[in-house]
Amino acid sequence: MKKGIKIVTIGGGSSYTPELVEGFIKRYNELPVRELWLVDIESGKEKLDTVGELAKRMVKKAGIPMEIKLTLDRREALKDADFVTTQLRVGLLDSRIKDERIPLSHGVIGQETNGAGGMFKAFRTIPVILDIDKDMSELCPNAWLINFTNPAGMITEALLRYGRNKKVIGLCNVPLGMEKAVADMLEVEQSRITMDFIGLNHMVFGKEIYLDGEKVTDKVMSSIAEGKMGSIVKNVKDLGWNPEFIKALGMMPCPYHRYYFQKGDMLEDELKEFSKGETRAEVVKRLENDLFELYKNVNLDIKPPQLEKRGGAYYSDAACRLINSIYNNKGDIQPVDVRNNGAIEGIDDDSAVEVSCIITKDGPKPIAMGKLPILANGLVQTIKSFERLVVEAAIEGSYDKALIALTINPLVPSEKMAKILLDELLIAHKDYLPQFA
Ligand code: G6P
Repeated sequence: MKKGIKIVTIGGGSSYTPELVEGFIKRYNELPVRELWLVDIESGKEKLDTVGELAKRMVKKAGIPMEIKLTLDRREALKDADFVTTQLRVGLLDSRIKDERIPLSHGVIGQETNGAGGMFKAFRTIPVILDIDKDMSELCPNAWLINFTNPAGMITEALLRYGRNKKVIGLCNVPLGMEKAVADMLEVEQSRITMDFIGLNHMVFGKEIYLDGEKVTDKVMSSIAEGKMGSIVKNVKDLGWNPEFIKALGMMPCPYHRYYFQKGDMLEDELKEFSKGETRAEVVKRLENDLFELYKNVNLDIKPPQLEKRGGAYYSDAACRLINSIYNNKGDIQPVDVRNNGAIEGIDDDSAVEVSCIITKDGPKPIAMGKLPILANGLVQTIKSFERLVVEAAIEGSYDKALIALTINPLVPSEKMAKILLDELLIAHKDYLPQFA
């Protein structure tokens, strides 16, 4: 019988990896990871070696028998894996810079997962993730694929509709950040907070909020209205909320709702940063360089606190908590991205949604959330239509579907602008988009 768990992390050379390693170390007693394989590609080899050596030092310091393996051979790594996590960035940060800069240069929001930027990140990533899914179906057909690669909603949608493997879960740190923000406002431990999450990735609402199982939604909404909520993720600017709007909304919005409910203000703010010469991707590039300088220090054997400046901070808590609950059949409730299966009425069963789920050894079971309130339904349905068209365009290399997707996106002002952005981004990213050749 096999002893311990084999985890494979694709995109293992990411600056985020020490978070994941820390998460597995913390839970080793319950979740005995025997092998952690960090996989990357040739152009990521230097980063993989640096972060891999740090991971080895972290494990040594913890004194646990977890083996860290570094490889560029994905297929070798995948053989008999139990869990595969994906955190890759096709085209690296230079592609994200284009996703952000090109729309902004036309006065349109340039963002990693929303609007035109999110669409092109999906175009670059979907063929690669479907390739990984294919390899998994041959080499580890019983493994769970846990994807954090952005845009996580569209990637999960693509895997669920077009992948071979049905054991697929999308994951994000945003719902966890929302729970943490509520816990901070109520000055209680995060473990006492639960929420009914309903929506899509980066488009999720906290419909009801509970403290020790008692409903506290109204109290939390009043605190948000009073401006007591801190920023939830580092990469989305906190411009505050109008108290009247928050009261009328009656549900907790996620940080990414700002791009839709505060469209003009967010654009103005992004354009200001852009005119100063730096988009978020460029800030992240600097942060990453600094992090890798730290990681090279052979005396470093912990996750450096500087990593918390990244928007994805604490994603490993979401990942390790999820893997732990599957492995130990916990039956607890966690928000993840899964096949809807009727959880949200009015959205296709086959579509990916972000909802609270019961997590057992058989994976996540979405909890029935009923219909989306009318006030949120229109926006969520529009974004879901956008996501579905993007996935189809990514797979078929369809210019028409890409154009329609971008035109119906609320962040794009007109079909004329959609065409301008589409044409410019297709050329800028042509090396990573063979399907559109
Ligand atoms: C948030 C999102 C993640 C995203 C990250 C970007 O946390 O939930 O999906 O990857 O921000 O952060 P960055 O530091 O790269 O701008």
